[in-house]
Amino acid sequence: MNFSDNELKILIDRSDCEQLLFQKADKVRRQHYGTDVYIRGLIELSNYCKNNCYYCGIRCGNKEIDRYRLSKEEIMSCCEQGYGLGFRTFVLQGGEDVYFSDKIICDIVSSIKKIYSDCAITLSLGEKTYSSYKAIFDAGADRYLLRHETANPAHYRQLHPDSLSIENRKECLWNLKKIGYQVGSGFMVGSPFQTTELIIEDLRFLQELQPDMIGIGPFIPHKNTPFGQHSSGNLNLSLRLIAILRLMFPHALIPATTALGTITQNGRELGLTVGANVVMPNLSPVKFRKQYELYDNKICTGEEAAECRKCLEKRVKAAGYNIVTHIGHVKK
Ligand code: 5AD
Ligand code: FES
Repeated sequence: MNFSDNELKILIDRSDCEQLLFQKADKVRRQHYGTDVYIRGLIELSNYCKNNCYYCGIRCGNKEIDRYRLSKEEIMSCCEQGYGLGFRTFVLQGGEDVYFSDKIICDIVSSIKKIYSDCAITLSLGEKTYSSYKAIFDAGADRYLLRHETANPAHYRQLHPDSLSIENRKECLWNLKKIGYQVGSGFMVGSPFQTTELIIEDLRFLQELQPDMIGIGPFIPHKNTPFGQHSSGNLNLSLRLIAILRLMFPHALIPATTALGTITQNGRELGLTVGANVVMPNLSPVKFRKQYELYDNKICTGEEAAECRKCLEKRVKAAGYNIVTHIGHVKK
């Protein structure tokens, strides 16, 4: 569906007609994906990061956290465990850790692909050059997640230090598309200084980019960041935006994010009922989970992968949907 700016403003701001919006979004989701929910096993490679984003708990300026990075063996063992639990997509996510050179990432990607040739590999490792993205794609990576965070240059400046820019972020996204990755982007809901007009700019940018995957979740403050005293994004606004995205991008893969599940107990289930069709439980070794804290009180930091898998199975079923274990490419 195509909305005018005025229509978007009403859908974003007004909660009085949101039930209708939610129902319509679920109808569209069922037309394209039925009750299917795709699962992605998230492996958090490293909490080292050279960047210092004002919202993020693993920013290099946070001296309070213990830094870790997984070895190749640890990563392979996460995959083995995940494969056994039915995961057919592995998402390797991490801070921008210079230790993970192209050579090391390519080796990890091709090693995973060699054993699990029926699986997709998604990377979420931040900004890289065209040639790095290309080398990693050639090594076997299928998808890349890189949220644009905010499409507006002045707002981008309010959320990031000078070393980062929206121009570079957008160029990375276009490069990823050009190389042939299935691309995911997105933004936080209720990030500091965000307005309805800025959200509309985000939606317009996504329309331009036409990503296969769109990840949004509420901003949640982290105590050791400059935004530690800001308030979290609003639950219902997050849900309305998921629903709007489903209507604007009927085929997109839209996760019910961990952040949504963190601001409220059944947040991910609610996300599924308003248009989301993906969940991304954690496969990282439990002993490091707490250290990958992008925001305060992140859920699932104490549970083993198998427990999360079981818990999600129940939650997804209770919400009226079904986890499917195939590779889960976008339907176009
Ligand atoms: N609250 C919510 N989401 C966050 N992210 C980073 N920090 C926070 C936070 N404090 C999101 C960013 C990033 C993704 C990996 O996590 O949007 O792209
Ligand atoms: Fe992790 Fe429920 S999904 S404990």
